[in-house]
Amino acid sequence: MKFASVTGVGFLICYLMVVVSGGRDFYKILGVSRGATVKEIKKAYRKLALQLHPDRNPDDPNAQDKFQDLGAAYEVLSDEEKRKQYDTYGEEGLKDGHQGSHGDIFSHFFGDFGFMFGGNPRQQDRNIPRGSDIIVDLEVTLEEVYSGNFVEVVRNKPVARQAPGKRKCNCRQEMRTTQLGPGRFQMTQEVVCDECPNVKLVNEERTLEVEIEPGVRDGMEYPFIGEGEPHIDGEPGDLRFRIKVLKHPIFERRGDDLYTNVSISLVEALIGFEMDITHLDSHKVHIMRDKITKPGAKLWKKGEGLPNFDNNNIKGSLIITFDVEFPKEQLTEEQRQGVKQFMKQKSIQRIYNGLQGY
Ligand SMILES: *[C@@H]1O[C@H](CO)[C@@H](O)[C@H](O)[C@H]1NC(C)=O
Repeated sequence: MKFASVTGVGFLICYLMVVVSGGRDFYKILGVSRGATVKEIKKAYRKLALQLHPDRNPDDPNAQDKFQDLGAAYEVLSDEEKRKQYDTYGEEGLKDGHQGSHGDIFSHFFGDFGFMFGGNPRQQDRNIPRGSDIIVDLEVTLEEVYSGNFVEVVRNKPVARQAPGKRKCNCRQEMRTTQLGPGRFQMTQEVVCDECPNVKLVNEERTLEVEIEPGVRDGMEYPFIGEGEPHIDGEPGDLRFRIKVLKHPIFERRGDDLYTNVSISLVEALIGFEMDITHLDSHKVHIMRDKITKPGAKLWKKGEGLPNFDNNNIKGSLIITFDVEFPKEQLTEEQRQGVKQFMKQKSIQRIYNGLQGY
């Protein structure tokens, strides 16, 4: 009781400090609780960044500010050290400032050009040459598909930087006509080029944050605009991560449903049993049978499948198929008699054409 009230006061003081210092409430901006995990913070940022991007809100005069607040909130709360300072002293307490460029943060999640909203002219302008798109397979585990995750991918890419001097560019074939003498002309073809500022390709390392959304399906792609191959005279292509869901030793995925097999003993098949299956996020799925379980029997656990990609609140089913393991050793004479007496099952010996289902 005493301890509880002491921590209570501690909380209150922290809270007051944040309020008193008059800084922005970064938790509120991101819409997360004060105990939010880094994953929750990244998820909230990624979602809000798409909603609040100024390109998407041309009519809102405050769009730029809101977007900047979001970037600052993410920058601080995603960094353990800065978050600690902020939690204790509020925004003013952040010593070395936190004025990173928001564009930089944004591009970690979405790529360089960032945006394809509202008919991006970039895609339409056919005259600008473009580097190739790159498609990279991103292997994800079924655990990640179940719970969602952020994967950091370090991308090493050459980017064009201005360099001293000029270079030839936009080269094309042109016809030139020269007069050789009276009444004699010659047409020749020659290569004509413009002069452009020189560029060199410099390797630049960048960490990309790929969100693996819960329920993501095999083959889905996450584009990072402008992170593909560079083009010296134009724009870079896109980089696309293509989801490849890895096989799992216990669960098999079919749509949003999960399938698994359980072997039980003949005794368990006859008298029933209780057991737990550890799910993809380590929670336990409890199974209890007090009836006879035949080989091949299926048990459906509604809501224990994968979350649906479009609506994470809907989950598929877990379908468990049982097989029955018979005793490996032969029974003793005593056991035979015992089984016969306990079971009291009559002889059946029905002969039929099982392939036709009679
Ligand atoms: C495992 O379960 C699947 C799906 O229900 C079933 O088709 C398969 O035969 C089972 N495997 C074994 C070895 O019983």
